[in-house]
Amino acid sequence: MYSQAKVIAGGLAHIPVVIAVFYFILTTFNKRALKFVEEAKTKKPEAKDVEPKKVAVSKIETPKTETPKIEAPLVVKKKHADVPVNIYRPKTPYEGTVIENYSLLKEGAIGRVNHITFDLKDSDPFLNYVEGQSIGIMPAGEDANGKPHKLRLYSIASTRHGDNFNGNTVSLCVRQLQYEKDGETINGVCSTYLCNIKPGDKVKITGPVGKEMLLPDEEDANIVMLATGTGIAPMRAYLRRMFEATEKEKNKWNFKGKAWLFMGAPKSANLLYEEDLQRYLTEYPDNFKYTKAISREQQNTKGGRMYIQDRVLESANELFNMIEDEKTHIYLCGLKGMEPGIDEAMTKAAEEKGLNWSELRPQLKKAGRWHVETY
Ligand code: FAD
Ligand code: A2P
Repeated sequence: MYSQAKVIAGGLAHIPVVIAVFYFILTTFNKRALKFVEEAKTKKPEAKDVEPKKVAVSKIETPKTETPKIEAPLVVKKKHADVPVNIYRPKTPYEGTVIENYSLLKEGAIGRVNHITFDLKDSDPFLNYVEGQSIGIMPAGEDANGKPHKLRLYSIASTRHGDNFNGNTVSLCVRQLQYEKDGETINGVCSTYLCNIKPGDKVKITGPVGKEMLLPDEEDANIVMLATGTGIAPMRAYLRRMFEATEKEKNKWNFKGKAWLFMGAPKSANLLYEEDLQRYLTEYPDNFKYTKAISREQQNTKGGRMYIQDRVLESANELFNMIEDEKTHIYLCGLKGMEPGIDEAMTKAAEEKGLNWSELRPQLKKAGRWHVETY
């Protein structure tokens, strides 16, 4: 039989056990809490914890062989999350109407390069885009197998506000592909289609796509642009965003940095958007620099054709002074073939500053400051 005294005695006997359990829980918890604090001290901050990390190529007081380490801004990807992509896909493209289609070339130029604008106002959902993106074009007709032609991508040459500033058009800069094969001239399917379309024609458009060539948000960023031929397309959009009065009024983005365009064209008559660029030079001499490489009219130091990489070498010191600034972004657009030449020039230019380009370039890329779109 349990008496009251026995129950009390039994209860008292459990007290040390309860204290022991309580003590055990407390010490375990303290240990974990301490570990967590230690980890928090040493852990790298996550994207959501921090402001965009500033990225710099630190001052070049290092020995020649050592390339200073630059770090990636941890929020680059997150920052672009709201950029529109694939509003229209190949199965359900938007049929835009051609507003204008005119040649960008002067008398005596080589080939055919057109500026083409499409009306987007009837698109639903609305086909919006930002500077640096591309759209897809599905040429009319069928391929050799009787299948509809596949889409081709084209860099957008207008700002999000369009050439008319009403925000309902998109423009392209298209070179007609032409080459000789077995004594026959072959015309590229889509580029020929685009160069031939007339105002009022309907064209199947997809996209927008691409986040590689977006401009940074910072008004005091420096933008170095290396373009050949139609590679000027995204650069034209950037420069309009920076320097066109109505554009600036609309975008409330007051560019304060330095924009430096290296432009490669075969002849002076092939220079694209030249009048606009000259106007920006006059209006913004402190913010815009324009360096041309006219391959078939100018010679490099070796007596060969003058390419933009030769111009890069000529300006190596100034260019790398800019690259050392964390606010500088570099954009490369146009011929795929120029990439090795640019790399070679950057390697030499970097060496002159005691830097190693093969180490530096991936760092710049990781930091979201090296942007390439070649084709
Ligand atoms: P196609 O009929 O598709 O012919 C192209 C094919 O012809 C090639 O694949 C190759 O097989 C063959 N070919 C080409 N040249 C030769 C040669 N010399 N000898 C033998 N065979 C050859 N183009 C622009 O004009 N402006 C732009 O802004 C632009 N932006 C682009 C952006 C991106 C992201 C990409 C990927 C491409 C861009 N292009 C741009 C290129 C464009 O997409 C097309 O590739 C180009 O217009 C040619 O397409 P096409 O249909 O006329 O040629
Ligand atoms: P070129 O054709 O004289 O050799 P476009 O698209 O209007 O033809 O312009 C492209 C420009 O880029 C031309 O001046 C062309 O020169 C030049 N170019 C051609 N190949 C390269 C290359 N590998 N690196 C840099 N520029 C190049």
